[in-house]
Order: sequence, then C-alpha cells, then structure tokens
Amino acid sequence: MTSSALSETATLDAAALRADFPILQQEVNGQPLVYLDSAATSQKPRQVLQAEYDFLTRSNAAVHRGAHTLAAEATDLFEDARATVARFVGARPEQLVWTSGATLGLNLVAYAISNATTGRGAPASARFALAPGDEILTTETEHHANLIPWQELAARTGAVLRHIPVRDDGTLDLDAAGGLVGERTRILAFSHVSNVLGIVNPVSELVDLARSVGALTVMDACQSAPHLRLDLPALGVDLAVFSGHKMLGPYGIGGLYGRSEVLEALPPFLTGGSMITTVTLDDAGYLPPPQRFEAGTQPIGPAIGLAAAVRYLDDVGLAAVHAHEARLAARMRDGLVGVPGIRLLGDAPGAERVGLWAFEVAGVHAHDAGQFLDAQGIAVRVGHHCAAPLHRRFGMTASVRASAALYNTEADVDAFLDAVSGIRDYFGANA
Ligand code: ALA
Repeated sequence: MTSSALSETATLDAAALRADFPILQQEVNGQPLVYLDSAATSQKPRQVLQAEYDFLTRSNAAVHRGAHTLAAEATDLFEDARATVARFVGARPEQLVWTSGATLGLNLVAYAISNATTGRGAPASARFALAPGDEILTTETEHHANLIPWQELAARTGAVLRHIPVRDDGTLDLDAAGGLVGERTRILAFSHVSNVLGIVNPVSELVDLARSVGALTVMDACQSAPHLRLDLPALGVDLAVFSGHKMLGPYGIGGLYGRSEVLEALPPFLTGGSMITTVTLDDAGYLPPPQRFEAGTQPIGPAIGLAAAVRYLDDVGLAAVHAHEARLAARMRDGLVGVPGIRLLGDAPGAERVGLWAFEVAGVHAHDAGQFLDAQGIAVRVGHHCAAPLHRRFGMTASVRASAALYNTEADVDAFLDAVSGIRDYFGANA
C-alpha cells in the first residue's frame, strides 16, 4: 500500500490500493476485470504473497519440533502470526486455534461436543455433553458450513435442531427466537453476517438470549472479519470462526476463537502429533489450548500470510474499510432498485450491512445473468451460495450475488450496474 492510499480522514483510496493486487490489473473477456465475488474469496495483496515467499525461502521448517536454527525461526514466526491474528479479533494468542478455515472450525466444535457426549475429555468436558432431546438452535439464514455440522451432531447425539426464522426483510425474527429458547437449548450457532443477505446480525441480543439459558454460543464470522472491526471477547460469544482466504489471506488457514474456559474444557477433535503431553501404546495426555486442537504439521506459511493480511487490513483501518464498503453497498442498492425486474434479498431499511447484495432478475436464470456479466468482465457469484434453505425460504433456488471489498471502486459498481441494466433486454425478459 502506498501512503497516498490512506488519507488523514481515514477514508481509503481504493484506486491506489489496487496497485497491491496484481490480479486486478488484468482484462477478462476483453474488459477490465470487475471483481465482485469477494464474499466467496478475496483477492490477495502482494504483501501476503511476499510474506509466504519470504518464509518459504528463508525460514521454512516444521514448528515446535526441531532443535535447529530454522526450526526456532519458523516457530517464532508462526507464534508471532498467531499473536497478530488473535490481536486483530481482540483475543489473546492462546485463545486462537489455527484451522484450515471456518468449515473446519465449526466441524471441530461439533465433533469436540460429540466427544464430550461420549465421555471423552477432562471432567470439565461433561458440561458440553448432549442428551437426546437437548436442542441446538441455528438460524434460517446460515450457509451450509454452519448448518450441516449441527445436523450431524444432532444425528450423533439425539439432539433436536431448531431454527430462528428470518423475516421477509432479511432480519432475524428475535421475537420468535425468544420463544424457541428454553432449558433444553444447549447451543446457539449463528452467523455474524449472512453471506446472502449482507446484514449484520444483532450479536448482543443473541448472546443474551443464549446466556439466559446457559447455552453455548458459536458465531461464524466469515463475512464480518474482513469488513468490520471485531472484538470477539467484547461481543461475548463463546466460540467464533473465520476463514483467511476471505480476508485477503491465503487458502487453507483460518481461526477458531474461544473463551479460555471453554477451550480449556473442550476435548480435542483431531488427534496425533504436536497436541500431546505423554503417549503410551494405550493412552495419551493432551496439551492445553490452542495446541490441543492443532494435531499434525500446521499450515505455517499460510498462518504467516494471514498475519500479513490482517496487518494490511489494520494499516488501511477497518473503520475506513467498513465506511468505504458501506458507500459501495448504498451505491449498488440505489442502482439495483432502479432496474426493472430486480428483487433484492435482505433490503431491510436502516440495517447495518457489509458491501454485498444478492438479487433475482425476473425472467432470467441466475446462471444466465452471471454469464452475461462475465462476458463483460464482471465476476459475481450465482447459485444458492451454499445457503439453499435460505433461498427456499425466499421462494427461489438461485440468486446473483455481488460482493465488494476494500479494493473495489465506484467505477466497478457503475460498470456492474450498467451491465445489470441490460440483462433482461438481452434475454428477452422485457418482451
Ligand atoms: N460462504 C461462501 C460464499 O458465500 C461459500 O461464497
């Protein structure tokens, strides 16, 4: 990032930032690339690639194992990366477990709870054990990564799934949620921001509801971590997950945050080397968190790359990122509502949002719309965005989703809107 990319008023200059993202410099289908699919995966700045390159070419070694100089350097870099990423979400290093991404983080929690249910773990793990008829509460807005692990956990334990409904405007129905929470509610799993609706959910109300019955809260922060300043301990959730590749970082790395007393009491999910104290042929003792949840050789380079990514976000400033993306979202909305035949999902008046909109184009399949946009160099996601039940709730099977990040400009949004306005004519849907 050049110093001119960040003005004194903490607004950001996306056009200047783009110099750091080599992929954005290209043309696609003869047009300048307009990348509006950052909710699926973000692009990566040079600083992230350089951090991984430097590690691999200077310090590469397995961590926490060797007695040699490179192993010590690698261990320091790896643990510094943990401290940097933990700080980014308001946490202490020991509260951050490396995972391959949010999906693994959520599965880790669900399997740790099943292990507690079968009596594994320290005596303190018993508090997580589920009995048949206990309830796991999620929401209708979740993407599959925050639904299916809970379905599987329910199937393994005899627990029952419940879902907080979503209102027509895309907000969670908290009145209904109040009626769904009771003494059998053991887990409340929800996303901070839905990957389809873009609305920031009311975390403190949800946490209060769960706490009122002693339920564990698990938050999917995939779609908020790249866009909003997170202080996970202040939000009060017990556990939270995020994916590095959605926040300018590499693939194959992510984080599971946990309140210390929760992580300390959870039994492990994956087992093997690097998470043990003593091992006999019949038994093993386990390290405290975070190592208890990090069996095997870890993705060291990606962890160092993710630390570079969050340093980049910090240098730009999350307040500036959020304000910039909110402006882009407002510009998108203003344009989209003016295009005949467009139906926006989650257009709740006054809702706090990140920079994404999913929408339906009357008379045109989302995949056709996506191909039409792609022919003009515009990359969006089409389909159910791994949130099929949510689409069904809104009476559709697929939508088009445009999602912005800090490197998008108003010109990107205008090119997108211009192209969207031609979709129905092109497919004869206005006839
Ligand atoms: N959650 C990812 C997305 O929204 C898969 O694209």
